[in-house]
Amino acid sequence: MDIENQLSGLRQSYEEKGYGVIKNFLASDEVERMRREARRLISEESRKDANKLQIFGNEINMKSKYFLNSSDKICYFFEKNAVDLQTLELKLPEESSLAKIAHALHSLNPIFREITTSQKVKDVYRAIGYDDPTVVQSMVIFKNPKVGGAYTPHQDASFLCTEPLVLSGIWLALDDATPENGCLEFIPGSHKWPLARRYVRTGNTQDGENLLEWTAPPKEYQDSDFVKVPVKKGDMVLIHGLVVHRSAENKSEKPRWIYTFHSYDSKHAVYSDKNWLQINENDTFLHIYDN
Ligand code: FE2
Repeated sequence: MDIENQLSGLRQSYEEKGYGVIKNFLASDEVERMRREARRLISEESRKDANKLQIFGNEINMKSKYFLNSSDKICYFFEKNAVDLQTLELKLPEESSLAKIAHALHSLNPIFREITTSQKVKDVYRAIGYDDPTVVQSMVIFKNPKVGGAYTPHQDASFLCTEPLVLSGIWLALDDATPENGCLEFIPGSHKWPLARRYVRTGNTQDGENLLEWTAPPKEYQDSDFVKVPVKKGDMVLIHGLVVHRSAENKSEKPRWIYTFHSYDSKHAVYSDKNWLQINENDTFLHIYDN
């Protein structure tokens, strides 16, 4: 299928269901370049600064300045299941223990920046009518075998709200993502529902205080409403900021690495100053069309 047909199919699915897939979006050398760079970051960079290591988890993030200040840095977050919580020693090699590298790879790392600003990414945003797609965060999420945790049902706009809501994520598979290793699952059409709750700054500033809070308890969804969306290595999933989605923990033997980034249309929407992620010391918000 030619690219124009793929993009129009993507737009149609995105508008109807709140998500869409383009198969073979990445060439295999692009996947390998990102995988190599992630491994290099882990082996060469992650241990350079002990302050750049933290366990990933909602309860920890909410009280942690490290998390709050990671918006304009490349930081390393470990899976809870991979760390002995008594001694804080890793139970597995580092490469198998990480939950994610985040949140400014798109701006600060040349390999990830190149993919994020590539022509095909620009084409995706043009296809959904964005006039100034602006990346606010990026992550490599590892979901490694046995330790890779679940992502409970959520709308991405809870974390990255804009007014009006014009937010979307691009999710790039660096491994095959299957029902066994925790592929994405969506409630089709839920992007037409309102935003259920927000994850916002409290105004507190001291480490250990409640720096973030939820504006409402989690909403309950029916398991049977979710549709699993398995994809192959190199495929791309476009995710509407309001669509309800989740992914299960990885109980398989196979990793499920992905690279993802989130953008809003800064020509037509204002980024909320209550969001957890704000411009910190460096402005790492990246205007895709200008790069
Ligand atoms: Fe998400």
